[in-house]
Amino acid sequence: MTYPVRMRGRREQGRRFARGAGLSLIVCAFTGFVACATNNQLPRHYDDPDHMIEVFETPERDAWAKPDQVVRALMIENDSAVVADIGAGSGYFTRRIALEAPAGKVYAVDVDDKFRTYIERNRESWGTPNIEPHLAFYDDPALPEHAIDLIFMSNTYAFLRNRVPYLTKLREALAPQGRLAVINFKPDAQVPGDAAPDPSYRVPRDTALRELTEAGFVLEREETFLEHQYFLILRVGP
Ligand SMILES: C[S@@+](CC[C@H](N)C(=O)[O-])C[C@H]1O[C@@H](n2cnc3c(N)ncnc32)[C@H](O)[C@@H]1O
Repeated sequence: MTYPVRMRGRREQGRRFARGAGLSLIVCAFTGFVACATNNQLPRHYDDPDHMIEVFETPERDAWAKPDQVVRALMIENDSAVVADIGAGSGYFTRRIALEAPAGKVYAVDVDDKFRTYIERNRESWGTPNIEPHLAFYDDPALPEHAIDLIFMSNTYAFLRNRVPYLTKLREALAPQGRLAVINFKPDAQVPGDAAPDPSYRVPRDTALRELTEAGFVLEREETFLEHQYFLILRVGP
């Protein structure tokens, strides 16, 4: 993505955030967020991204998030695959995926510049220069069309507003045989630590699947090895 588009993105995000905050300031039940949520929607910014990087990276998370098993289940067979990690955060999954496609590219898509900078600073020491930090719009991942082999989205779905149009843009970014993998917290899961939002902000599996179907995806496979999350793997429908 080119620099001018990034800048335009930040200005647009800033204006939208200011409008949202002006509408309502309601205390949010999600640890670490700016207190700004309306209509049971997650707020758009973490108030302390540095703290959230510690939360995302806490070693205890590996026991339930099972990142290596998740990445194996993605079955990335082509080492030049092009992947996009939507809401990449600290790169917890991004760097593991990038190791599976050393001759390819992994877009670390996020709306928060702090996370983009963190990944940019660390990608060489992770041994994953093939990660491309990608600052996107709230309502548009701004990915090239029909170019992505795999789109991965962990714990980000609930942040999206106007999800069907957003998911439609993801579908348009996928190459013809491309796949979309979605991991979300189950509404009733008791997740250790601070990584999961309050259950009232979580999106149930059937709601997500209905929205994904509306956006033109079909369920290819479902992995059930995660205790606290559901894990869907989808393809573009006929
Ligand atoms: C709970 S974190 C998940 C981080 C990472 N996927 C993981 O599992 O460790 C959600 C991430 O989504 C990002 N995010 C929120 N809204 C977004 C949007 N509309 N597009 C892309 N990223 C978004 C946040 O900045 C944050 O980094």
